[in-house]
Amino acid sequence: MTVSVFENYQSLSEHTASIITTDLKNKPALTICMASGSTPALTCDLLVKKIKEDSIDYSALTFIGLDEWAGLPPTNTGSCHYFFRTKLFEPLQLNPSQYHLFDALSDNLQAECDKMDRLITDKSGIDIMIVGIGMNGHIGFNEPGTSFSSLSHVAILEEITRSVGQKKYFNEPVVLDKGITTGLQHLMNAEKVLLIANGGKKAAVIKQAVEGPVTEDFPASIMQLHKNGFVLTDTEAAALLNKQ
Ligand code: F6R
Repeated sequence: MTVSVFENYQSLSEHTASIITTDLKNKPALTICMASGSTPALTCDLLVKKIKEDSIDYSALTFIGLDEWAGLPPTNTGSCHYFFRTKLFEPLQLNPSQYHLFDALSDNLQAECDKMDRLITDKSGIDIMIVGIGMNGHIGFNEPGTSFSSLSHVAILEEITRSVGQKKYFNEPVVLDKGITTGLQHLMNAEKVLLIANGGKKAAVIKQAVEGPVTEDFPASIMQLHKNGFVLTDTEAAALLNKQ
C-alpha cells in the first residue's frame, strides 16, 4: 500500500482521474468499479473532461457500480444509480451494455449479488477499483465486521452510515436500513485499488485505515494488505498521519 498526499481536493481528483485515463489508454477493455458519493464526484467530472479532450476510446470499457442503497429507485437523486447516470453515463453517452449496477428494487437481492459476482468472474476480475471511506471505516457497504473474503452481499447498515447518508445525499427522509455491495474479496482481487479521501472529517478514519491494526472490525484497514493499493488524500484528510 502506498499513501500519497495532495495539496487539495482538486489535485487529488486530477491525479485520480489521470490514473484511470492512463489505465484506460493502456487497456481499452478496462473493467472499472467505482464508489459514488461526495469524494469521487470531482474525479468523475474530470474523468469525463479528460476522456473527451484526449479523445480516449472507451467503447470497450466495462463499468461496475460498487454498491447501492437497497430499496431506492434509480430516479432518487441520492441513489448511486442517479449519481453515475448524471456524472458518467449520460455525459459519456455510455452504451447501457457497458455498465452494471445493482438493481436495488429487485425482490431478489441475493440474485443481484450472484449476477454481479458472475459478471466480475466473466470479466476476469476488476482492473481498477476507486473507493471512498465511511466514518466507520466502511468501504462500499462493507460495514465493520464484514469478512475480508466476502463477495457481493446485502448489508445491514450501521446507524452512522444511515445518518450520514441521510444528511449528505437526500433532501427527503428515506429508509436506509440496508445496502447491496460488492465484497472485500473483490477489492483484494482487483488489480489496483485507489482509496480516496478528502477533508478534515476523514482524518481520523484515514489514520486508522493506514496506521491502525488490520482487522475486519475496520474494513478500510484491508488496504494495508493490497499489493497494489493506493491511499490518496488531500492534506486535511492526512493531517493525523505520523508520516506524510
Ligand atoms: C458509496 C460508497 C461509500 C462511500 C463512503 C464515503 O458508493 O461506496 O462507501 O464511498 O461512505 O462517502 P463520501 O465520499 O460521500 O464521503
